[in-house]
Amino acid sequence: MNFGYFDDSNREYVIETPKTPYPWINYLGSESFFGLVSNTAGGYAFYKDAKLRRLTRYRYNDVPVDSGGRYYYIKDNDTVWNPGWMPTKTELDRYECRHGMGYTKFTSSKNQLRCELTMMVPNDYNGEVHQMKLTNDSSMDKVIDLYSLVEFCLWDASDDMTNFQRNYSTGEVEVEESVIYHKTEFRERRDHYAFFSMNQNINSFETDRDTFLGAFNGYDKPEAVNGELKNSIASGWHPIGSHHKKIELKPDEEISIIFILGYTETKEKFTSANVINKAPAQKMIDAFKTDEQFEKAFLELKHKWDGLLAPFSIDSDDEKLNRMVNIWNPYQCMVTFNMSRSASYFESGIGRGMGFRDSNQDILGFVHQIPEKAKERILDIAATQFEDGSAYHQYQPLTKKGNDAIGSGFNDDPCWLIMATAAYIKETGDFEILKEEVVFENDPNKVGTLYDHLNASFYHVVNNKGPHGLPLIGRADWNDCLNLNCHSTEPGESFQTSGTADGRVAESVFIAGLFAFTGKDFVEMSRYLGKDKEADEAKQHIEEMKETVMTHGYDGEWFLRAYDAFGEKIGSHENDEGKIYIEPQGFCVMSGMGIDDGRALKALDSVKEHLDTKYGIVLNQPAYTKYHPELGEISSYPPGYKENAGIFCHNNPWIACAEAEVGRGTRAFEVYKRIAPAYLEEISDVHKTEPYVYSQMITGKDGVHFGQAKNSWLTGTASWNYITITQWILGIQPDYKGLKINPCIPADLKSYSVNRTFRGCTYQISFDNSAGVEKGVKSIVVDNKKIEGHHLPLFDDQKTHKVVVTMG
Ligand code: BGC
Ligand code: NOJ
Repeated sequence: MNFGYFDDSNREYVIETPKTPYPWINYLGSESFFGLVSNTAGGYAFYKDAKLRRLTRYRYNDVPVDSGGRYYYIKDNDTVWNPGWMPTKTELDRYECRHGMGYTKFTSSKNQLRCELTMMVPNDYNGEVHQMKLTNDSSMDKVIDLYSLVEFCLWDASDDMTNFQRNYSTGEVEVEESVIYHKTEFRERRDHYAFFSMNQNINSFETDRDTFLGAFNGYDKPEAVNGELKNSIASGWHPIGSHHKKIELKPDEEISIIFILGYTETKEKFTSANVINKAPAQKMIDAFKTDEQFEKAFLELKHKWDGLLAPFSIDSDDEKLNRMVNIWNPYQCMVTFNMSRSASYFESGIGRGMGFRDSNQDILGFVHQIPEKAKERILDIAATQFEDGSAYHQYQPLTKKGNDAIGSGFNDDPCWLIMATAAYIKETGDFEILKEEVVFENDPNKVGTLYDHLNASFYHVVNNKGPHGLPLIGRADWNDCLNLNCHSTEPGESFQTSGTADGRVAESVFIAGLFAFTGKDFVEMSRYLGKDKEADEAKQHIEEMKETVMTHGYDGEWFLRAYDAFGEKIGSHENDEGKIYIEPQGFCVMSGMGIDDGRALKALDSVKEHLDTKYGIVLNQPAYTKYHPELGEISSYPPGYKENAGIFCHNNPWIACAEAEVGRGTRAFEVYKRIAPAYLEEISDVHKTEPYVYSQMITGKDGVHFGQAKNSWLTGTASWNYITITQWILGIQPDYKGLKINPCIPADLKSYSVNRTFRGCTYQISFDNSAGVEKGVKSIVVDNKKIEGHHLPLFDDQKTHKVVVTMG
């Protein structure tokens, strides 16, 4: 069942009912200021850090779901309604919500009054700007009351939710003309405040929540939405911002209003006793006084996205493929790059900051959009690394410092830094990044080059092997829930941190595969720097690791997952449950293990046989039916959910990549399509989450809600599927010496073309697969000249070059 449709020409998903199976959200902002906005205008805004600089309040686990947002109330005679339906839930005569690239637009009407509400965070601007157009579509004069509403968060979202004994006494505001200023804690240590403005004169306002709502009321029935507001000035308790304006509209008459929810910092704090310096806010308000200013900024936002999406576009007969590759997948990659796993409708924004592993992987799918930002991010991440190559698992975006919330010693972490750096160099050719000086552990006294960091990463694996010569797992590897050194039996304890990261027995075959795969990049990067000795040694370590896996890490028909702290096998046919896991099958094959002797193919066939379902590939089988302390969190989940046999979307693409590695393009594409959201639109009622973005998990076949997705938006799935489809399947592969052409596609995909901007020129590449093969390039012609090899020549001429690839 569909709840809307894709409007590809506008790059929008159009939601036609507010009653989606779950709030379907969008993100505003892509630099420093962000807003989450749902299809009922719910959500919240923050500056840089969803925990430390939250502008508006959001209540988690609330009922009705998704309560709290930026709400506008329209009172037209006795009817009160909201353009996004919530919170009054007054039935609308018309409702439409368009989620676009960095903006959301509602069009709704009730009793022949039409409202068009567009919300965006303009480029280089620290605020949400909302343009509201109200039109009288009736043949009678209308007199309406319009009320705005935001509820301020007292900045630190975690403290705001818990520290009431203090917070109920700190709230402060000021109001001047049509601007409401939220200045809690500004009198002491803060140098920032928020404001909520309207570009017209107002009749009245409210800043005290209880005055607005009335005793025991919710936002669905605010007492104040009934005539003039009382001009309350909040002092303590709960500051809000609400403007009220009386509006008269003749038939066909339209009024346009602009609201701004802004954030600003100032060194000169006060103009007189406890009166804040409003000049910086005024400057921001002046930037959006008129519709012309709004429309210009809206166009600039569109242009920005034209630019961001330009480096890669495909034209094929499969419109779902086109919309994933051209629009929604890269859009999600940008969002995950910005948010890591911090703020979504499943991540509170107050727990995890930026993940070391996650942010490195986010770079893979994002680097071609803004390489400079990827570079900055790589250096920020590297600066949190320890000298021995291990890493803080997370860091805070505002301070860029590692946080100890979940410890360190996730032994896959170091490898991802190699992969992200390699992706950056392959895209840009900028080997100089390896010579950049980057500190370790954010300590100015511990300086190295980025290459030193990668060296430390590589040798962290080499120096930490277990009894079989396989990498020690530490707290966990990619699978945060396989906690082999932490045998927790106390409820409420952290599965990751209550034990040690230093176990010297539990080993991970997955890390071995990851190491062998990305270790090749370390070898290549060393060679480019002229470090042949280092390259040779590293190559030797990789070869040894591969042999070790084939000796101790292969279980007959598939790769083993791990050895536990007692040296017992995990992911083996000898186990009763959890006999086979997805992760090592992907990475070991991607690294080339078992390809020459058929064991790779066998492993992938086993995946198909044991892990495939109609909604995607589950993580392991059989699911764990009871809790195993020696395995950790994985077995804490009921069967079919999350890491315990859920369809964990993040590693489905690894199987697609592995299938491409062995040349089975039809199967690779089948794996890709099975979880790609655009292909699932018709089962939105089953799937539940947004049909335009990937979710972290879909319930597996052992779960009660088979096929139901959770944790949409912030997942490494975005990046991995993007590179899977663009690089491994469609075969446009950034490489050190240029773009490599190496497609592995379904035999019935007879042609497609790709525009790829890369290192200063654009390649217009058309693929001719009239031969109907899955893999194999017969010839490549560039600007009418046949070339040797698979690498397109580099042209730094800003021009477009025509490439014809004939498969066969
Ligand atoms: C989740 C994992 C997640 C981890 C982060 C676990 O509860 O299942 O997916 O990576 O928490 O700490
Ligand atoms: C989500 C985490 O963000 C990611 O880092 C991890 O790999 C997966 N969960 C699997 O546990």
